Amino acid sequence: MTKVWITRALPPEALDALKPYCEVEVWPLETPPPKSEILRRIGDLDAMLTMLTDPIDAEVIAAAGPRFRAISQMAVGYDNIHIPAATQRGIAVGHTPGVLTETTADMAWALLMAVARRVVEAHQEVQKGIWRPWGPFVLCGQEVYGATLGIIGFGRIGQAVARRAAGFSMRILYHDPDRHPELEAQLGVQYASLDDLLSSADFISLHAYLSESTRRMINSETLGKVKPGAILINTARGGMVDQEALYHSLKEGRLAGAGLDVTDPEPIDPSSPLLNLPNVIITPHIASASTVTRQKMALLAVQNLIAGLKGEPMPHCVNPEALTRGQAA
Ligand code: DGY
Repeated sequence: MTKVWITRALPPEALDALKPYCEVEVWPLETPPPKSEILRRIGDLDAMLTMLTDPIDAEVIAAAGPRFRAISQMAVGYDNIHIPAATQRGIAVGHTPGVLTETTADMAWALLMAVARRVVEAHQEVQKGIWRPWGPFVLCGQEVYGATLGIIGFGRIGQAVARRAAGFSMRILYHDPDRHPELEAQLGVQYASLDDLLSSADFISLHAYLSESTRRMINSETLGKVKPGAILINTARGGMVDQEALYHSLKEGRLAGAGLDVTDPEPIDPSSPLLNLPNVIITPHIASASTVTRQKMALLAVQNLIAGLKGEPMPHCVNPEALTRGQAA
């Protein structure tokens, strides 16, 4: 019997769609299975449906049994999976781009607005029974309308953020390894070098994949180049930011605020000084967390998985070359 292990409970319709194809076991806890548990099971599996919190490194992939042929990740990001090791073994890796684009862009926008306008700080005051009388200086934040937005990583989500910014008459800069002349015209955005973007943007929003070239790209050196008073938003991956450097920049007032849906590590260390700064909003990696989007992600992950089990091309495969390798093996 074909055996699949899913590392977190899924919406029932996604699970039902998978069941005709295989014997399914679901990890019953809300916390991720430890690596030792993955290592213990993978030798007897045909495929796994994983979450971004599962460490699928080279050691795990090496422990996969001879039948193992597919990993389907319920996320667009897959930096937790050692792709070269999977490809080498002919294991196809799927992910779920597209279906979470707008929801994630909404969250980036929610954080941007909330930090700029000090929404959480104001709410916390009211919760504590503090209602400062209306006054010209009370809880003043930053102007969003007409400001400059710098988007780092101009894939689907970065573009969706740009579309939202257009409604706020913002000047929009983007930085990406590739230039996109057609999008520049269509969305009214301008390409900028990283340095130019950092020094001009009032808001900097991160939307790149985590890779060796983006890891810690926001560090003491790059933060030294930001426009004084800028606000940083991160809904991509915590590893893109050097958190210690971020803390110092916020503490010294170079950055005026930060909205972080992702941290490094996750969960954030409870002793992190970032948690004590009033100008920082931190949410627990929920940018794609609308019920409808999570259903779509789960269904797409299941479609990828079924294709992978059948040895067919996945609708969204990170390493399509694994398929030819798998067939040659
Ligand atoms: C992803 O899909 O990579 C997001 O970080 C979580 O939805």
